[in-house]
Amino acid sequence: MPRGVGFKGTANWLSVQAREEMAHAVHMYQQVLDRGAAPLLLAIGAPGGTFSGLTDVFEKILAHERGVTARINHIATLAMQEGDHAGYQFILWYVGEQLEEEANDTDILNKLEWIGDNRGLLLNLDKDLATRVYANPFPTDVKLSGGAPAMA
Ligand SMILES: [Fe+2]
Repeated sequence: MPRGVGFKGTANWLSVQAREEMAHAVHMYQQVLDRGAAPLLLAIGAPGGTFSGLTDVFEKILAHERGVTARINHIATLAMQEGDHAGYQFILWYVGEQLEEEANDTDILNKLEWIGDNRGLLLNLDKDLATRVYANPFPTDVKLSGGAPAMA
């Protein structure tokens, strides 16, 4: 990655993704509370600090998402085996979400492979990633939005 080049569009995309992940965490936290249990939040390790380029960034993101997908699928399997229909319905949303997240990361990686060393196209991709806007994934969930209930 050339020094002195800030990929602000990519930073925007990742920032929006991080906000979405935080919304997922609160959603899961709320689900645990709703089921009468106490969520246990443990420390997580610091992310890696250096990357060789955007391809390296998105390869690491995709690898991480695949690990998350495996854990989500495991939860879905356990819920099914336990006959926990509410838990199964809850986690199915995340099964679909993981499919979407892996597809998004794969799409960006495919574009990066196609772009290769073409800096103009790389800056164009960065411009595209700058257009991503955060949208609450659970807009009708009053507990998470903190706002008034949606009017019918
Ligand atoms: Fe994710």
